[in-house]
Amino acid sequence: MIKLGVNIDHVATLRQARRGREPDPVAAAAIAEIAGADQITVHLREDRRHIQTRDLKILRETVRTRLNLEMALEEDVVGIAEKILPDMATLVPEHREEITTEGGLDVVGHRARCFEVVSRLAAKGIAVSMFIDPDEKQVEAAFDVGARIVEFHTGAYANASVAADISAETKRLHEMAELAVSRGITVNAGHGLTYWNVGALVTMAGLHEFNIGHSIVSRAVLVGLERAVADMVTAIRRAETAQLRKM
Ligand code: PXP
Repeated sequence: MIKLGVNIDHVATLRQARRGREPDPVAAAAIAEIAGADQITVHLREDRRHIQTRDLKILRETVRTRLNLEMALEEDVVGIAEKILPDMATLVPEHREEITTEGGLDVVGHRARCFEVVSRLAAKGIAVSMFIDPDEKQVEAAFDVGARIVEFHTGAYANASVAADISAETKRLHEMAELAVSRGITVNAGHGLTYWNVGALVTMAGLHEFNIGHSIVSRAVLVGLERAVADMVTAIRRAETAQLRKM
């Protein structure tokens, strides 16, 4: 069964709109876990626009499933990860002006730093994943720097609107997942995934988990977080069951 990591950054985005106390991402994490999340994912951004260091510290104590920290290669956050010890660190690119994480980490262009950060986090017992585009050179580079988990950036797939583009992006993700598996790399996927587009990816080779945030939190505003998470678990299970029937 494919696992679901629920990204709760946008619960903190709403709180930061007033710099107040609610909604509390710690409470959101607990509700998401009760509703079926296998992992809680947060991104500690350099500009601290949503999740704060304090949130991370409390989540480390309260999360009962797994805590996945999305983080840039910056020294400041690497030091924080080494102290707080999330179960997994997902290395992501970060640009201050971006609205969200636009594109995967350029492992090819930052080999030495990636190697250093992967080694340091792994030495602390943290599983390390690299958030990369579904690109052959990036998969090989992730392997070379020691990563044994990648999360494929599914943004291009999610943003494609014409059938031919959707099908090309789906094919690219499936092919790169096969390449990753052939190198012994575990495959995760995330970004822009919704209740409607997640199904086509469940057959990706070696797929271990999805990390989904915006779509779940958006639905939660209307129907509640517990139901929004449960609905996503159902969407993934339905797609998995449909695939099993075809086999
Ligand atoms: N995975 C990673 C590595 C991300 O950076 C993000 C966005 O923070 C997500 C998954 C979730 O993306 P979305 O909010 O579009 O579901």
